[in-house]
Amino acid sequence: MLTVGIDIGGTKIAGGVVDPGGVIIEKTRVDTPKDPDLLAEAVSDMVRHFAAHREIGAVGVAAAGFIDRDRATVIHAPNIAWQNEPLRAKLESRIGMPVTIENDANAAGWAEYRFGAGRGYRDIVMLTMGTGVGGAVIVNGELYRGGHGVAGELGHMRFIRNGLPCGCGQRGCLEQYASGRALQREANSIADEGGIGRALAELRTEKGTIPGPAISRLVLANDPGAREALGRVATALGEACGGFQAVLDPELFVIGGGVAQLGEDLLTPMRTAYRTSLPGYGKRPVAEFAIAALVNDAGIIGVADLAAGSV
Ligand code: BGC
Ligand code: NA
Ligand code: ZN
Repeated sequence: MLTVGIDIGGTKIAGGVVDPGGVIIEKTRVDTPKDPDLLAEAVSDMVRHFAAHREIGAVGVAAAGFIDRDRATVIHAPNIAWQNEPLRAKLESRIGMPVTIENDANAAGWAEYRFGAGRGYRDIVMLTMGTGVGGAVIVNGELYRGGHGVAGELGHMRFIRNGLPCGCGQRGCLEQYASGRALQREANSIADEGGIGRALAELRTEKGTIPGPAISRLVLANDPGAREALGRVATALGEACGGFQAVLDPELFVIGGGVAQLGEDLLTPMRTAYRTSLPGYGKRPVAEFAIAALVNDAGIIGVADLAAGSV
């Protein structure tokens, strides 16, 4: 059976047709519309496009937001204009097929557990570094959803008291210090300082932002300013992992999202920060760190697999 998996992020909607082995056989993406109805329309168009020339058995949609226990409503989304959005009903009425909804990072974590970097492990924490910081908690081989469906919002754990305001309404969330956007913000402030920020400053667009992929290229070229920016977000994420270890004791952290494509350049400073914040470090078992094997496709693959399992 073929399944459609769609991943709605803060900036892009990516969709694909996925086979039972977790392989994407066709893929497409569009910008995320701001208006919730246009967004539902864009997702439905994608499904219709795939279904026009293939036999589709199930549809899964991963969404960057807090999904309720019934997996029908996006209760809240820090980076998308959704508030109590009846996403499942809206999509099912447009598509005419049952739709499985899941949090995007949960879907990505599930994909890594089933088909990617987490194969062979039972207790995993996934963190995705994109517009936001997404989290997934897999406990003894099961996706942990908590009492109301919204567990695993690891990006909204408070990281800094009285810190930067966050789309969730709070301040100081990890997301503000360890996301792809945080990397851009750090790069921008290093660029402002001149000195090691000179190469970064040259990458500024007319809008005054520095595109993430351009920062990554500078990291790979060993630019000191870009490496400093990466070091800051890697350190934030690594320190937070020390805390997640205290609560969940995973065997493995899997890191995904665009920034994770930097591989060891990201993981090395992360591990260092993890060690400096891990309770009982040196006297207790530690977790391994891995880059997501499915990179930016994990959400599509994971939600397709969850949808296939539900029919
Ligand atoms: C949202 C999560 C989402 C993550 C990654 C966060 O801001 O709260 O639901 O998983 O971003 O997209
Ligand atoms: Na999550
Ligand atoms: Zn937050």
